[in-house]
Amino acid sequence: MTRVVAIVPAAGKGLRLGGGVPKALRLLGGRPLLVHAVEALRRATLVDDIVVAAPAAEVALAAELLGPSVRVVEGGAERVDSCRLALEAAPAAVDVVLVHDAARALTPSALIDAVAAAVLAGAPAVIPVVAVTDTVREVDPTGRVVRTPDRSLLRAVQTPQGFHRDVLARAYALEGLLVTDDAGMVEALGVEVTTVPGHGDAFKVTTPADLILAEALLAARNAAPTRASPGTGPPRLEKGSDVVFEEGKLFQEGNARG
Ligand code: C5P
Repeated sequence: MTRVVAIVPAAGKGLRLGGGVPKALRLLGGRPLLVHAVEALRRATLVDDIVVAAPAAEVALAAELLGPSVRVVEGGAERVDSCRLALEAAPAAVDVVLVHDAARALTPSALIDAVAAAVLAGAPAVIPVVAVTDTVREVDPTGRVVRTPDRSLLRAVQTPQGFHRDVLARAYALEGLLVTDDAGMVEALGVEVTTVPGHGDAFKVTTPADLILAEALLAARNAAPTRASPGTGPPRLEKGSDVVFEEGKLFQEGNARG
């Protein structure tokens, strides 16, 4: 039977958001972004397995936070190395891979299922996309405008991105590509990439303002879970009642709190 694995590269230092911890461990509603993202993957009906790549120093903590049903591996030097290591740790029977960004913490489970379903239906590579609301200009290195692409044809790309396993493995074997996402590598192979409609809630938490927006969205969901997007109720921790969250710090009960 076809199995679907979701891999989450979360092994970057990612300190730009502030707070003194890697971005994936920044708190949203009292829980790390990574925990929210993994809970959404767990709620998706088509995801069978989840593998997370964490920084070497955080592997044990991530495993504790995420519980025994999630495999946590040590990441590599670059994002693509972390993805490759996570994919290698996936069960052999897996032939559909979703690559998800921990910073898209509030991604609806229905979107995750939509991407997986499109790959299961035969598409080799699938990305969720949304229309671009700003006019986008291409500039040269000095900032002078070179081109104004037709906005109606532009799309912003979200995650999870879904692939047939062999297509993604071939893409990860390519060297020296200057692309910013997994689908970009697959395009370089000449494989067709198709789109499904993305979702506003799947935005990437990148700036402090994004975190404020995510907090408000989470509070609204928790206040009226039946009116929120289906499958996006309050996050649960499978395990880890002994793990305490404080802004800027993560520690386990009994350990020194300095
Ligand atoms: O640092 P950057 O924004 O490129 O990271 C994008 C994503 O890739 C982040 O989720 C980060 O944790 C992950 N990453 C990784 N392994 C690395 C570098 C980044 O998993 N060596």
